[in-house]
Amino acid sequence: MFNNLFSSNEKGHLVIGGCDTVELAAQFGTPLYVLDENAIRENCRRYKQSLAQNYPDTMPAFAGKSFLTKAMCSLLAQEGMALDTVSGGEIYTALQAGFPAEKIIFHGNNKSEAEINLALDSGVGRLVVDSTAELHLLSQLATARDKAAAIYLRVNPAVTPDTHSYIQTGQVDSKFGFAIDDQIDEAVKLALSLPGLSLMGLHCHIGSQILDLTPFRKMAEAMVDLLNRVRQDAGVLLGELDLGGGLGIRYLPTDQPPAIEDYAQVITSALKESAAKYNLPLPKLLVEPGRSIVGPAGITLFTVGSEKEVTGVRKYVAVDGGMTTDLRPALYDARYHAFVANRVNEPATEKVTIAGKACESGDILIKDIELPKLHRGDILALLATGAYHYSMASNYNRFGRPAVVFVRDGDANLIVNRETYADLCSNDLLPAHLQTK
Ligand code: LLP
Repeated sequence: MFNNLFSSNEKGHLVIGGCDTVELAAQFGTPLYVLDENAIRENCRRYKQSLAQNYPDTMPAFAGKSFLTKAMCSLLAQEGMALDTVSGGEIYTALQAGFPAEKIIFHGNNKSEAEINLALDSGVGRLVVDSTAELHLLSQLATARDKAAAIYLRVNPAVTPDTHSYIQTGQVDSKFGFAIDDQIDEAVKLALSLPGLSLMGLHCHIGSQILDLTPFRKMAEAMVDLLNRVRQDAGVLLGELDLGGGLGIRYLPTDQPPAIEDYAQVITSALKESAAKYNLPLPKLLVEPGRSIVGPAGITLFTVGSEKEVTGVRKYVAVDGGMTTDLRPALYDARYHAFVANRVNEPATEKVTIAGKACESGDILIKDIELPKLHRGDILALLATGAYHYSMASNYNRFGRPAVVFVRDGDANLIVNRETYADLCSNDLLPAHLQTK
């Protein structure tokens, strides 16, 4: 069944983490994000183990942008993972959960002064600097605190993976990082000369949902070439290399993503071979996987509502979420698979298009999927929604964002409450001249 997280019970219901999804829908309501806690832990361990088996000093940092809540931060701390953050909000969430600040890496192409101050004051482990202006600002803010900020410089390695253009980041024309050919050398010199900065290493990230390992190999080789160049030109041996995230996952039954172990093998052997070529000591290796840790572990449950047949063209079946809960189909044309959770073993009998409930024609979750005939009240499970779904949910149309549940060994734990109507109005203010009652 799609992957080994799913099974069915005697009622013919979809089961994940030992929990009957139809019962979860009844207990917590829909739309509902459900994540298999053991599957997330297992993926963290696979990264840790496969890197450690191939390379002396490694640390995977979970990319919080893919899914971050306090419970997730606690889980990551328990698993001994580091955490990649991109905002004050993500750092604050981690600190609230008691996540160790020194294991936080802070990114961003336009960090605010307040965000940098939060990172410095809370003892965030590494700041990844994206621009010359930020080097100066960070130097100033760290010096004012009598601190040395431990930094990486973000390099744009000019490697373009085959993925949606919105989620490529390492191509030449990108808003991120210092160009590997003509900008990084100056940036290294500046970082070494400014007070309050301690240059620990280099960072790069080429994109996301990458299903071919070749660009990862090229990126690793390019970064070791660069470490060697920095040693020669600037006379420093940088001891840490952060190669970002990007490993893709299965969204459709036909997708064949590489295993975490294959990815680890490819990048570590590329690093070892390139470093040997230059007789360079192996740098500490960090990676920042998000999607490949949490993506396959999550599903979104919906209740089926109305349907509409466009005669001779297509049948639309609408569910109670859509682009506000699961944005990726509307934003990236991303394709998904689904199960009818209350009749999971029934054969497919008709082709339908699954529509969301937002007032937007583009709010289509799945265009053309073969499913058993759907009826109002059926529970539909959209698969592989653990990454970039909850974290990209919105309140468009004033829909409240769904609850999030962790399931494991038959237990379901609510980790994020469903937003209420009152929540939706909680930040609204009525100036005196607009108060009508
Ligand atoms: N590190 C950096 C610096 C990143 O920019 C990203 C993702 C990651 C790590 C994690 O990449 P992952 O392992 O999850 O592929 N919203 C888009 C994805 C945007 C990814 C942005 N950066 C989507 O839903 O496909």
